[in-house]
Amino acid sequence: MRKNIVAGNWKMNKTLQEGLALATELNAALANVTPNCDVVIGTPFIHLASITAAIDTNKIGVAAENCADKKSGAYTGEVSAEMVASTGAKYVILGHSERRAYYGETSAILKDKVALALENGLTPIFCIGEVLEEREAGKHFDVVKTQIEEALFNLSAEDFGKIILAYEPVWAIGTGKTATPEQAQEMHAFIRKTIADKYGKEVADNTSILYGGSCNAGNAKELFSNPDVDGGLIGGASLKADSFMTIINAF
Ligand code: PGA
Repeated sequence: MRKNIVAGNWKMNKTLQEGLALATELNAALANVTPNCDVVIGTPFIHLASITAAIDTNKIGVAAENCADKKSGAYTGEVSAEMVASTGAKYVILGHSERRAYYGETSAILKDKVALALENGLTPIFCIGEVLEEREAGKHFDVVKTQIEEALFNLSAEDFGKIILAYEPVWAIGTGKTATPEQAQEMHAFIRKTIADKYGKEVADNTSILYGGSCNAGNAKELFSNPDVDGGLIGGASLKADSFMTIINAF
């Protein structure tokens, strides 16, 4: 059966020293407990190697927040999936709405990133979600379905089974305006049905679908109590050990 997962997304926050301090604090907080979910932290590229060396990666998985859509070569400033994997990171966040909106990441690009991530043994945490105008126009289900179809439905059932999805309504990210538990459940159930229609019920039932967008220590429990919400992708509230731990303990 699918896993519950709480994943942090630090975005472009924390120096190497600050990041190491937070990761070590989380590592200590989790040392003598077994949470009822997998724990992942998504950090900037430059933190990855130091953090994987400093923590128990069996307890806390480490994620990059992006990887290149090319294997290797003359792509100045890019970081490949193979390089990410070589740091000891086991996950990569792909298709975050900030990457889509500010860095022009299209489904075609994301499809290549997903393929390279999988080739290199990384687990993609693949983000999908509509903007406010799309929800207000009643198009949110279509938008999310298209995002999944275009970037992921070329995968074999076996490879699709390696994907973690994160539903992040763009209007809820960093705004303090969380989706209601009903809105989250409704969309997560729709996503699961979309997967079932393509790959069958077993694959759909085994796919972890996380909620992201102003999920915090105060609302995580209610969001996670929905049958199709399998955890969270946490931005702002993952930047402090105590709030992130409270979210982990919501399971
Ligand atoms: P937030 O970000 O929790 O700060 O809203 C979530 C995300 O963008 O993954």
